[in-house]
Amino acid sequence: MKIGMLTSGGDCQALNAAMRGVVKGLENICRDDLEIYGFLNGYKGLIYGDYRKLTGADFSGILTKGGTILGSSRQPFKLMRVPDENGLDKVEAMKSNYKRLGLDCIVILGGNGTQKTANLLREEGLNVIHLPKTIDNDIYGTDMTFGFYSAVNIATKTIDCIHTTAASHNRVFIVEVMGHKVGWLTLYAGVASGADIILLPEIPYENVKILDAIQKRHKQGKGFTILAVAEGAISKDDAALPKKERKEKLAKEAKKWPSVSYKIADMITQATGSEVRVTIPGHMQRGGSPCPYDRILSTRLGSAAAKAIVDRKFGNMVAIINGETKLVPLAEVAGKLKMVDPKSRMVQEAKRIGISFGD
Ligand code: F6P
Repeated sequence: MKIGMLTSGGDCQALNAAMRGVVKGLENICRDDLEIYGFLNGYKGLIYGDYRKLTGADFSGILTKGGTILGSSRQPFKLMRVPDENGLDKVEAMKSNYKRLGLDCIVILGGNGTQKTANLLREEGLNVIHLPKTIDNDIYGTDMTFGFYSAVNIATKTIDCIHTTAASHNRVFIVEVMGHKVGWLTLYAGVASGADIILLPEIPYENVKILDAIQKRHKQGKGFTILAVAEGAISKDDAALPKKERKEKLAKEAKKWPSVSYKIADMITQATGSEVRVTIPGHMQRGGSPCPYDRILSTRLGSAAAKAIVDRKFGNMVAIINGETKLVPLAEVAGKLKMVDPKSRMVQEAKRIGISFGD
């Protein structure tokens, strides 16, 4: 049995734990008949034939290790069909490296973009298994991605720390949480840390609603307010613009404010005269050791991937649905995004306890 493995896109916690699950599972089933080729730095390694032959020992002791022992890089899906600067056909190069090594399959760990390329390789005839990783939890077809809960822990701890200083100084604080397109991380961390206002890309905000929520707290005698704001939070006015116009406007604003949080902070200061502080934990949210939940999830998904490989059930993502691992055809899920439903119970429950979503 010869398998290739790569980790692509933004890293997250539990990538190593997931690969360990795959290899330990295969070792126990295949015993001595197992060769592992680890492609370095994501699809780059598969395109340019940059790989290391690995053994089971390489996957020992990495359950708790953050990052990825294979390295990662972003190789946008939309550029996969575009030849590189030397005219190399990337898709053909990936197929040729796969075939030259005589692989039985390639295990691809990544998020949405990575999954689209995995599906492309499937369409091109390669045997592919995809494992859903990302702190964004936006992969369609799985209830959860590994990395998500570890990031929730970090973002929550950040907001917890901000809470105490915000209360001491009676300040308005904004904590900007990762997530350009979806707000799962902001929603979960916001609820877990008792944020007063949560702004998500899926629920465009109105300035007046944010100001009302702050005012309401003042009237209740609460001198501080905490906003958990997703990187991709957007105002109702901006969301209503045609795509091109919106892009141009946001690009112009990016010269004035480094991110949406600073724009909102400015708006609050101008309207209320109050000091507003912005905290951005940024890539810390993707770093460090995976939390126990992610260790368990990634180990289960990795082990289930090993079984899928031995059963030769290729072309699938290994998902977790209602607490059970399940194979989901890549053809059904690639290119779809799992977003927060503004009408979901969780959003309604959060609103019921007084959290404002700025809408
Ligand atoms: O997709 C994961 C993610 O961490 C997003 O939440 C974030 O917006 C983005 O990656 C950051 O990307 P980069 O590491 O390329 O700056």
